[in-house]
Amino acid sequence: MLSTLLPTRTLLFLGLCLTGRRGLASAPELREPPKNIAVIGAGIGGTATAYFLRQEFGAGIKIDVFEAGTVGGRLATVKVGDVGYETGGSVIHPLNLHMKHFVDTLGLSPRKDVPSKMAIFDGEQLIFEESDWVIVNFFRMLWRYGLNFLRMQMWVEGVLDKFMRIYQYQQYGYSFTSMEKLLHAMGGDEFLQMVNKTLEEAMLKAGFSQSFLNDIVVPVTRVNYGQSVRINAFVGAVSLAGADSGLWAVDEGNKLVCSGLLYHSKAELISARVTGITRKMRTSKAGGTVPQFEVSYNGEFGSAYSLYDIVIVATPLHQGLSQIAFSGFSPPIPSYFPGRYQQTVSTLVHGILNMSFLGSTESPSDFRMSDILTKDHGGLAINSLSSLDPVHIPDGYVRPPASVKKVWKVFSPQPLSKDQLRQMFLSWDMVSEEPWLAYPAYSPPHRKPPFILHDHLYYLNAIEWAASAMEMSAIAARNLALLAHHRWHGLQGKVDQEDLHSRLRSEL
Ligand SMILES: Cc1cc2nc3c(=O)[nH]c(=O)nc-3n(C[C@H](O)[C@H](O)[C@H](O)COP(=O)(O)OP(=O)(O)OC[C@H]3O[C@@H](n4cnc5c(N)ncnc54)[C@H](O)[C@@H]3O)c2cc1C
Ligand SMILES: *[C@@H]1O[C@H](CO)[C@@H](O)[C@H](O)[C@H]1NC(C)=O
Ligand SMILES: *[C@@H]1O[C@H](CO)[C@@H](O)[C@H](O)[C@H]1NC(C)=O
Repeated sequence: MLSTLLPTRTLLFLGLCLTGRRGLASAPELREPPKNIAVIGAGIGGTATAYFLRQEFGAGIKIDVFEAGTVGGRLATVKVGDVGYETGGSVIHPLNLHMKHFVDTLGLSPRKDVPSKMAIFDGEQLIFEESDWVIVNFFRMLWRYGLNFLRMQMWVEGVLDKFMRIYQYQQYGYSFTSMEKLLHAMGGDEFLQMVNKTLEEAMLKAGFSQSFLNDIVVPVTRVNYGQSVRINAFVGAVSLAGADSGLWAVDEGNKLVCSGLLYHSKAELISARVTGITRKMRTSKAGGTVPQFEVSYNGEFGSAYSLYDIVIVATPLHQGLSQIAFSGFSPPIPSYFPGRYQQTVSTLVHGILNMSFLGSTESPSDFRMSDILTKDHGGLAINSLSSLDPVHIPDGYVRPPASVKKVWKVFSPQPLSKDQLRQMFLSWDMVSEEPWLAYPAYSPPHRKPPFILHDHLYYLNAIEWAASAMEMSAIAARNLALLAHHRWHGLQGKVDQEDLHSRLRSEL
C-alpha cells in the first residue's frame, strides 16, 4: 500500500530462534500430564494452538481440533477459472514472526512480490496516486501534510518496537492470564490506554492534523478494518503498520498455514460443530476429583460428545460466528460476550473497471493502481477497491492495466447491488461474494473478554478486541498453550511476571 513511501525496515528480530532456551529451565512435573485437549476452531488461531500445545505437552497427549466449516476459517481463497485469490485475511507484516516461523517450519514459501501502488478516492475523484518514484511521493506528502507523515512512521515504529517484546517473552516461556497483562508486559500503561481510546483521540493528542487523519489515516483504517478512526488506537497502529513496506502473503494461499500446522501438530481433525461444553468431574488416580469438560458436537455422523482435560475455544463467542452453550459453570459463562463483529463483504469481480466511477480521465491502459483506498464520503458504498493478484504469481507476471478484464476485489459493509456493480464496472463475467463477520466493531472503551473462561478452559479470540490479525491469533495461541501448560503443572514462575522487559535485558 503506502509501501514505496516508507523506508524498508530492517528485520531485526528475524534471527531469533523462536523455540528458545526455555526447555533447559523446565521445572519438575508436578502432576500427571493431561490425557487429551480439545481445540474448537481450525482457523489460524486454533491450528497454531494445536501446534504450540504439541510443543508444550509433547507427543504423549491427544489433541482434537473441531471445525464446523473449512480449515482456515477467515483465511480463504476462491477460484476464478483455474486461478486462486484470497478473499479473507490477505497481507502479513514482515515483523509477524510467528507467521514467518510457521511458513519456514512447514516448508511453505512467501508469494513472489508484485509491487503495490496505492491511490486514494474521495468519492468523486482520486486525490492521491502513488508514483513509481519514492522521492516524488515523499515530496508530495511533505508538501501536503508537512511532517505528519514522518511522525506517523515514527509513532507506528515506536509501538512496533514494544510489540516485538512479546516474542522474547514467549521464547522464554512466559505467559499471561489476561489481555491486559499481556499488553502491559509489552507496552506498559501506554498500551493499556491505547486499547481504551480511539485512534483519532490518540493521534490528535499526539499533534497530527485533522486533515491528515481524514485524507490518509481514515482510508487505511477503512481498507483494513472497514471502520473509521474511532477504532481503538492499538488496532489503529496495527492498521497503520499494515501500510508498511515488505508486506507478504503465503504462496498458494494463506490458509495453507492452517492445514500445515494441523498436520504438523499430529492433532486429529473432527469435522463437526461444537454445540456445548459442560463441566464434569472425574476421579483421579490419586483418589481426588478433578474437573473435566464434556464437549458435545454435531457432525455428518450425527451428534456425540467426548471428555477433555483442557479445552481451548478458538472462535469468536459472538452472534453469527459460533454458538456454544456452556453449562455447569459458576459463575456462568455466556455464549456471547458484549460487542459485535463488523460485516465486511468481500466481492471478487472479473471484469473491466469503469474509470469514470473514479472520476478519472486517465487512459485505462495506463492505470495500474493496485489498491484504491477511500475517504469517508457519505454516498460511497465501498471501503476499498483492489486489483487482485493471484495466490501464486507465475513467472513473468505483470499486473494488468485497467483496460484489461481482470479480478478486482471490493470491500463494502453491505452486499453490492446490481446497480452499484454497473456503476463500477463496464462489464463482467463473474462475481463472487463473501459476507464476512470480519473483525470486532471496535468502540473503545470496551470491556475485554477473558483468556480464562474457567480453570483449564481458555478463550483465544479475546485477543481480537485489542487487534484482529493473523499474527494476533498466533500470539494468543502461543500464550494460551504456555498458560495451559504452566497452570496444569502449577508453574507459577512463568505466569504474569512483572517487569519482564528489564529483567530479560539484564539476563542477556
Ligand atoms: C476480509 C478480511 C480481511 C482481513 N485482512 C487481514 C489481513 O490482511 N491481515 C491479517 O493479518 N488479518 C486480516 N484479517 C483478519 C484475520 O483474517 C483474522 O484475524 C484471523 O484469520 C482470525 O483467525 P482465527 O483462527 O482466530 O478465527 P477464524 O479464522 O474465524 O477461525 C475460527 C474457526 O472456528 C470455526 N467454528 C466456529 N464455531 C465453531 C463451532 N461451534 N464448532 C467448531 N468450529 C467452529 C469456524 O468455522 C472457523 O473456521 C482479515 C479478515 C477478513 C474477514
Ligand atoms: C461509469 O461511471 C459513471 C460515473 O459514475 C456513470 O455515470 C456511468 O453510468 C458508469 N457506467 C458506464 C457504463 O459508463
Ligand atoms: C478500559 O475500559 C473498560 C470499560 O470501560 C474498563 O473496564 C477497563 O478497566 C479499562 N481499562 C483500562 C486499562 O483503563
